[in-house]
Amino acid sequence: MSASLGAIMRIRAFSLASALWLLAACQTPPRADSTSIVMDIHSHAQPTRVRVTHVSLDLDVDFAAKRLTGTAELTLDRRDATAPLVLDQQGLAIESVTGTDGSPRVFEVAPEHDHLGSAFTIQLAAQDAKVRVHYATTEHALALQWLDPEQTAGGKHPFLFTQGQAVFTRTWIPLQDTPGVRVTYDATIRVPPALTAVMSAERVGEGQNGVFRFRMPHAIPSYLIALAVGDIAFKPISKRSGIWAEPSVVAVAHAELEDTEKMIQSAEKLFGPYRWGRYDLIILPPAFPFGGMENPCLTFATPTILAGDKSLVSLVAHELAHSWSGNLVTNATWRDFWLNEGFTVYFETRIMEAVYGKERAVMEMQLSKADLIREMAELAPVDQVLYVELAGRHPDDGFSGVPYNKGALFLMRLEEVYGRERFDGFLRSWFDAHPFQSVTTADFMAFLERELLASDPVKARQIDLDVWLNHPGLPADCPDPRSPLLALVDRQVALFVETKDPARLDTRGWVTQQWLHFLEGVGGSIDADQMARLDGTFHLTGSGNSEVLCVWLRLAVQCSYSPADAALESFLMRVGRRKFLQPLYKELAKTPAGLERARAIYTRARPKYHAVSSGTMDEILQVR
Ligand code: BES
Ligand code: ZN
Repeated sequence: MSASLGAIMRIRAFSLASALWLLAACQTPPRADSTSIVMDIHSHAQPTRVRVTHVSLDLDVDFAAKRLTGTAELTLDRRDATAPLVLDQQGLAIESVTGTDGSPRVFEVAPEHDHLGSAFTIQLAAQDAKVRVHYATTEHALALQWLDPEQTAGGKHPFLFTQGQAVFTRTWIPLQDTPGVRVTYDATIRVPPALTAVMSAERVGEGQNGVFRFRMPHAIPSYLIALAVGDIAFKPISKRSGIWAEPSVVAVAHAELEDTEKMIQSAEKLFGPYRWGRYDLIILPPAFPFGGMENPCLTFATPTILAGDKSLVSLVAHELAHSWSGNLVTNATWRDFWLNEGFTVYFETRIMEAVYGKERAVMEMQLSKADLIREMAELAPVDQVLYVELAGRHPDDGFSGVPYNKGALFLMRLEEVYGRERFDGFLRSWFDAHPFQSVTTADFMAFLERELLASDPVKARQIDLDVWLNHPGLPADCPDPRSPLLALVDRQVALFVETKDPARLDTRGWVTQQWLHFLEGVGGSIDADQMARLDGTFHLTGSGNSEVLCVWLRLAVQCSYSPADAALESFLMRVGRRKFLQPLYKELAKTPAGLERARAIYTRARPKYHAVSSGTMDEILQVR
């Protein structure tokens, strides 16, 4: 048995059947079979018996009641003619289920599971190729964030967006909510006057009288069905790309993200054609809990990337990269999440290199690795594992920089050993061989063995796949990106630690990533007095760069630098991005006085946050 096959076999929690299948697969190439279904512990669906293949939505958006009402018509692939249809649902008010002729079907909603909603079972009639669910969402719809007008830039109209990943789509659509099941979809969405609806799909027509229609002709996983509604305008970047945002934001966003078409072209050169038609972005209000979300045809993004100097656009490279790694080739279960995010971080840095040069890409890679090392120091060993164990856990519990950055470092290691040309060819063939398919870690390992490792077993021995996949920490052979631009910063860090004198620092021409490296570098030893001096010279409390400001505010809390208090509070009240809130609240919670202050701010801020963010902060601040 080859070393790598040994590693595959040691992927934990593997059934004997799948291990045997793999063994066979490694001898005869496995079929790229889009119809194979993997068991997903985070879904109640039984897609091997009856599978949903198309979802047709017809929904009214009611801002006053904060509710979506209407129907989801599901088209079925009935593999077992006598089996019922089992769906996922969480907190939906289900009014009725009917056949397409309107006649009722018997259904049952099982008691609610802890965090996965419940099984929603429908008894099918013999002739049913489709069923229609009549339903409304409730206040328990974790996917939906309803924003009051004051949370928008315009201040006049409300706003709504959905966030499906990982297991929230079931809170606004009854369906088989597992990334192992792919569906095409269409939608008719009715919204109040003056508002526009956009979705992760092609627009059909322009939208008239508040009725908007959409169509997604490619089979996608449920977590990528997405909707946003607000007072938004569009500004094109190229024929196939453009920016949606509130009218007062759209020009600024357009200027910041004008390189998007260049990014698409660079990505296509690397890993094959962009297969989704349009690539648009929507800049959401700052309450959006993530940096970005790769909804097909329409990336959702936070306005905190609008720094004014394009310094944070790697986020666009990242979400765009998901059009291959994630949306075209999708993790079949949430254990395989690193296949989405690790590949995407790797691909993102390749796009950044192509568009902005090697120096920028290496700088970002070095920072990501440093972030990962800092983060891993606080993670339990089980959570430092790439092929993470999620049995009995919510998918979000495994969320960290590990699938992202350790995943990317693993691919960089493969590139290092096999050379860029070979590795690029290999990655491209991975995407080409699995378009619109959901894949597991075992699928990837078998493909890797066959298409790359087997071609050069001597090289293969330089990489211990088992250690990369199944062990905590970073392997000894982990790549070590080193940026000369950050090495320059190291010298200034040393100078400041020695002299405490900002006037002696040479910061000419520093870009955001250098500032971030500087602040992390001095962070271990700085006090309030030195913060004041740095602030006097560099005005960091007033920084318009969200990444810099977030690190600065964390240091301000750490050393009780009170002139930043007001900036901290206004940041926490305005921004809902979890990546920023988490370190700030965590730092505050380290002292009794800080915790009290954090809870006071949080009491006011919590209603403005998305459930994704408030869930995490509730834990940090031990409230509820
Ligand atoms: N798909 C993720 C966001 C996500 C992951 C949402 C898991 C829900 C569950 C998205 O592509 C992402 O990684 N966003 C990052 C951006 C980034 C540049 C690493 C973010 O939001 O910070
Ligand atoms: Zn991502």
